[in-house]
Amino acid sequence: MAGKLFIRTFGCQMNEYDSEKISGVLAAAEGLAPAASAEEADVIVFNTCSVREKAQEKVFSDLGRVQHLKRTNPALMIAVGGCVASQEGGAIVERAPFVDVVFGPQTLHRLPELLARRRASGQAQVDVSFPEIEKFDHLPPARAEGRSSTASAFVSIMEGCSKYCSFCVVPYTRGPEISRPFDGVIAEIAGLAAQGVKEVTLLGQNVNAWRGNIDGAEQDFAELLHYVNEIEGIERIRYTTSHPREFTQRLIDAHAELPALAAHVHLPVQSGSDRMLAAMKRGYTSLEYRSIIRRLRKAKPGISISSDFIVGFPGETDADFEATLALARELRFDGSYSFLYSRRPGTPAAELEDPVPQARKLERLQRLQAQLEAQERAVSEAMVGTLQNVLVEGPSKRNPAEFAARTDNNRTVNFPGGGDLAGHFAALRITEARHHSLRGELLHAGY
Ligand code: SAM
Ligand code: F3S
Repeated sequence: MAGKLFIRTFGCQMNEYDSEKISGVLAAAEGLAPAASAEEADVIVFNTCSVREKAQEKVFSDLGRVQHLKRTNPALMIAVGGCVASQEGGAIVERAPFVDVVFGPQTLHRLPELLARRRASGQAQVDVSFPEIEKFDHLPPARAEGRSSTASAFVSIMEGCSKYCSFCVVPYTRGPEISRPFDGVIAEIAGLAAQGVKEVTLLGQNVNAWRGNIDGAEQDFAELLHYVNEIEGIERIRYTTSHPREFTQRLIDAHAELPALAAHVHLPVQSGSDRMLAAMKRGYTSLEYRSIIRRLRKAKPGISISSDFIVGFPGETDADFEATLALARELRFDGSYSFLYSRRPGTPAAELEDPVPQARKLERLQRLQAQLEAQERAVSEAMVGTLQNVLVEGPSKRNPAEFAARTDNNRTVNFPGGGDLAGHFAALRITEARHHSLRGELLHAGY
């Protein structure tokens, strides 16, 4: 059956990766091509996120908006996947009875079968189980074409999380940490490189918790990076998100040793207060975190470090928050994310007393965000006049006559230029720092 597929993705890069896999699975099984809008689709998929309450509620309001499409196209199938699906299961169909299929992050490869069962039986189908890492054995090979950039690709190397931070739903919605076997990871990256991909981002909720069997021996994430660095055609490697508890000296050393490893690490700290870190069950102190960053900067001078913060965790005092501001300033974080604590039912933190008024929390968030933005701007301004080796992703979104490229420290640079530069490295001089991007001039097109 040929038709069109519309996917709406919420949340993290893991979900973006899963959405790519969902289109691959449905293209292979049902010949579905991408639809430009929900209106012209035969299958609509919502790939959801439940890390914060706002994203979760948005799913139900957006679902309500596509319900009427079934009147003009009675064969239309609506499927809900991702973490909200995993958490709510059959309750989604109770709240939105027009939903046909509910599937989890670990069962997306079963989507064609679930759709077929729904069509044959007329009954909504729900499968949100965690069948180990079976999904990777049932996915079509990764394709470089059809992406916004053929130069770079995501590759998931592990699923789930076993850290159980007290505020987070992920261990419950995505299951425990399971590493994808070494051979499958290498085969996928080599396949992408053969199609012209030059940069890979290795993905996992705790990507540096990866463990695998390499040539008969149990190896770690740092070892995997050494192998990826050797794959012909892969010139740049990124990874996200890493966890401070698994940030070993071997991983730090890899940043000094591996030329392809980008000069940027995203390492969520969440808070600068040891009292809060303990309540969050993060498993490290602010001193241990500082030590990782100091050693990373020694191994790779100039490396850019970004982080995630949670503001307003239950019981956070002004002193706790000041400790977070001080840590962010001292460690010169670049391009970081900060979130207001969102109470997630079922997590241990949801039971904690929370006397701090919401307005006070918001004020703190604004202060932290203003400081982080100023720090990010300072890094961008310091880049003006420097030479940067960038990977050209394609035409710039705002002005298709220009190119958009990515620097080693993960910034977008727009620059004028002609010819076929997309998918290649180029040398640029940075001419201007803008709000969330840079401008540059082309010195020479690379390889
Ligand atoms: N593995 C990563 C780590 O080491 O922290 C985090 C993955 S988590 C899905 C992404 C980010 O969402 C976290 O770093 C945290 O800042 C934020 N987050 C998770 N649960 C949250 C909650 N209940 N409220 C606000 N932010 C939350
Ligand atoms: Fe969530 Fe902590 Fe894991 S933030 S994804 S439980 S490392």
